Amino acid sequence: MELNLKGKTAFVTGASRGIGASIKRTLEECGANVIAPTRSEMDLLSKESIKKYFDKNNNLKVDIFIHCAGINLLAGIQEISDEIIENVFQVNVYSAIQILKYLSSDMVEKKNGKVVLVSSLYSIVSRERRIAYSASKNALTGFMKSVAIELGKDNILINSIAPGYVMTEMTKKNLSEEEIKNIENSIPTGRFQTEEDIASLVAFLCSDYNQSITGQLIAVDGGFTCK
Ligand SMILES: NC(=O)c1ccc[n+]([C@@H]2O[C@H](COP(=O)([O-])OP(=O)(O)OC[C@H]3O[C@@H](n4cnc5c(N)ncnc54)[C@H](OP(=O)(O)O)[C@@H]3O)[C@@H](O)[C@H]2O)c1
Repeated sequence: MELNLKGKTAFVTGASRGIGASIKRTLEECGANVIAPTRSEMDLLSKESIKKYFDKNNNLKVDIFIHCAGINLLAGIQEISDEIIENVFQVNVYSAIQILKYLSSDMVEKKNGKVVLVSSLYSIVSRERRIAYSASKNALTGFMKSVAIELGKDNILINSIAPGYVMTEMTKKNLSEEEIKNIENSIPTGRFQTEEDIASLVAFLCSDYNQSITGQLIAVDGGFTCK
């Protein structure tokens, strides 16, 4: 079975590298036209930059929205700052709400839309010094469920994917080699996830094969969060 996204336009954040780059590539391989603004075109840390982008591109009509951009700034409860909390929430959650607000009016009008939010295994379990990150990814779940209820009648399906560990720059920055080895040994399927593991579920959820899945947080983690 081939997933066919021909004639669809997708808007993807965080597509410059890592998981987002793989999602962009996969959607294009399925035939979609992908719009993926770089940070210099739309800085998700800045509400004003997002507003400016959509003021400039006020006629943007898309069928699919993928929010993959994310940051993970580590801090424990004694060291956490307002700046860390605000920046992590701005990029991971607030920007997604802001962008869907712009993109959803056309989706509602044509009664068709697919949205996928890239969450994290840290929305299911957590780890020390992931306070802002874990909280933001849990907030993303609340946002996703509320929109699923509101826009289900308009045939807009929204879901979240919780990737397990993927060897991207984010993982290399935040985990030591020893931690990586220990985690790998505790994953039931015995390996980290690949970018493609995540991208293929995104493509499925955005395709016509998905007619009924909405409001769900789906883990792609080799069974890590079962333990
Ligand atoms: N890697 C994992 O193991 C893992 C596990 C669970 C969940 N996730 C989630 O998967 C998503 C992608 O993670 P990744 O590992 O691929 O991360 P990554 O390699 O660090 O890539 C992060 C992406 O987000 C973009 N981004 C960050 N801040 C931005 C900003 N202010 N404005 C615009 N773009 C911004 C980056 O753009 P620039 O190139 O401009 O910085 C980049 O495209 C994230 O939401 C992450 O939380 C990752």
